[in-house]
Amino acid sequence: MQDILSQYQTVSESEVTTWFEVGAVADFPENSGACVKYKAKQIAVYNYTRTGKWYACQNMCPHKMENVLALGMIGDKDGIPKVACPMHKKNFSLEDGSNLGGEDLKIATYPVKIENGNVYIGFSD
Ligand code: FES
Repeated sequence: MQDILSQYQTVSESEVTTWFEVGAVADFPENSGACVKYKAKQIAVYNYTRTGKWYACQNMCPHKMENVLALGMIGDKDGIPKVACPMHKKNFSLEDGSNLGGEDLKIATYPVKIENGNVYIGFSD
């Protein structure tokens, strides 16, 4: 299980070597998640219209290794955009993947860019 989780490492914008096109802006729901695949990874993508920003993170919740974060509710906690896992409601920051409940579990996040109406996620592999 740890092996599956270890494929998910946060990528900063300066580390991006591949901008992977995942579809058109119109393909993604507003203020909720969608799941896309890159190599063996499942990635959750969120169009957060409240701030006009997009976020991407691993779809796998590190709590019970369930691929469910794309189904989570998004919102904010003290101004930090977050997703709540639909299983047991652990909250993760969409900015840096940290667990807003203060626990050790965190998630990998990936940069997103919009160009010519298309959505791209940045990877370093
Ligand atoms: S599986 Fe996500 S909080 Fe438990």
